[in-house]
Amino acid sequence: MTQHRTPRLLGTLLLVAAAGFSLAGAEASAADRTATPLGRVVPAPASVDAGGSPYRITDATRIRVDDSPETRRVGAYLAGILRPSTGFSLPVTSQGTGGIRLRLGAGSGAGSLGAEGYRLDSGRDGVTITAGKAAGLFHGVQTLRQLLPAAVERNSVQPGPWLVAGGTIKDTPRYGYRGAMLDVSRHFFTVAQVKRYIDELALYKVNKLHLHLGDDQGWRIAIDSWPRLATYGGSTQVGGGAGGFYTKADYREIVRYAASRYLEVVPEIDMPGHTNAALASYAKLNCDGTAPPLYTGTDVGFSSLCVAKPVTYDFVDDVVRELAALTPGKYLHIGGDEAHSTSHADYVTFMDKVQPVVAKYGKTVIGWHQLTGATPAKGALAQYWGLDDTSAAEKAQVVKAAQSGTGLVLSPADRVYLDMKYTADTPLGQDWAGLVEVKRAYDWDPGTYLPGAPGSAIRGVEAPLWTETVVTGADIDYMAFPRLPGAAELGWSPASTHDWDTYKVRLAAQGPRWEALGIGYYRSPQVPWPSA
Ligand code: ACM
Repeated sequence: MTQHRTPRLLGTLLLVAAAGFSLAGAEASAADRTATPLGRVVPAPASVDAGGSPYRITDATRIRVDDSPETRRVGAYLAGILRPSTGFSLPVTSQGTGGIRLRLGAGSGAGSLGAEGYRLDSGRDGVTITAGKAAGLFHGVQTLRQLLPAAVERNSVQPGPWLVAGGTIKDTPRYGYRGAMLDVSRHFFTVAQVKRYIDELALYKVNKLHLHLGDDQGWRIAIDSWPRLATYGGSTQVGGGAGGFYTKADYREIVRYAASRYLEVVPEIDMPGHTNAALASYAKLNCDGTAPPLYTGTDVGFSSLCVAKPVTYDFVDDVVRELAALTPGKYLHIGGDEAHSTSHADYVTFMDKVQPVVAKYGKTVIGWHQLTGATPAKGALAQYWGLDDTSAAEKAQVVKAAQSGTGLVLSPADRVYLDMKYTADTPLGQDWAGLVEVKRAYDWDPGTYLPGAPGSAIRGVEAPLWTETVVTGADIDYMAFPRLPGAAELGWSPASTHDWDTYKVRLAAQGPRWEALGIGYYRSPQVPWPSA
């Protein structure tokens, strides 16, 4: 302790003494020029207190962890990001002092950081990230990552220097549900493609990956008791390509990988509409006993499970049981949107029968907001996907449900549907909800978006990516970036930080990071990107 303190004190005195000398001054200003300002991250932290000397990661830096396996895992993840570009060995160890320190459940204030919050303290001697839970440490690591130069994301050794601005960040999320949805039905995406998206989401502290696993064009998850759902119902996609499906082992690997990035997978089987792939796979699911052909177009609203047939509920029970068994998370999404081929009475009957099945297998229902036209189960969440100009009556129905205790996840289609075109010239995407430029995607407040909905009913924000026009991993990147980080920030950051003019500067700083990560993004003219 004494040995540690004396040089530090000496160093401080020397620095004070040298403040008037040009060498020390030049060093300090070089550091100032290089270190990313402490708050310049997305999502905006809840509180930033910048000041003091930066920390410099060097070949001597250690990543110091306590003995918990979770802290070690987060430390190893951080080392995996930093080693290739810094070229440093960065041992993950419980020995030594200084360096990058990850502390779980320790120190003053860790308790107030909740399930996902963290505190980051940076100064000359090191960076310490403190959290109550491992998810908080992981989110703190994402902040640390964004405070380092974009080149840290590269896979080859870069020159550095690797400075972290001095000061303290204290950060907790505004909402517990911060999601992104990927439609793997309209076009199928491989496990590797889904993992890449998970890594992209983790960088912005997104904590839910909603997978849209069944729709008219494809059924994407193996169900042992109804094998043709996947083998036949998953055999094509929009445009007639080969489609595909996840085996249970594939799906478990997605769930495991997501959990390693502190994301919970929310599986969706959309019912009673959007079910042509299931109806095509089993004739007995159809009211007339005849299986329709597989469908590779992009119309909606033409299919329905047969609400009157008992076999429908055997099917639902089997699918929900097998899917729940694959799902460590809390939620199971039952869709419920655009059931235009189901009468209202049948829709209500169906939802009354199906929601208890989800509860029976230990999961909590999420449905698209049309579920509020039936009777949402106690504890259910409704996912709002309306527009600014959705009818007052439809909004009122959702608000009334929220007032009665139904939680809301906000996915307004003309704000955060990542498949909407940015401009009329965007080569991919749809425009039925309008054109959604970057400012429009960011510039709304989840807390006041649906007037009359109690603040406590708003559980978070989710950005869905429908894939009628999205075919490749590069297509995913182009539609998600730069809008996805805006949705993530709306879910994480306090309303008091909301400001387009400062957001666009923080967002612009992400561009070089995406370039380093190989993420091809839309260079919106609304954002002041650094010139290359
Ligand atoms: C939806 O976009 N049909 C939920």
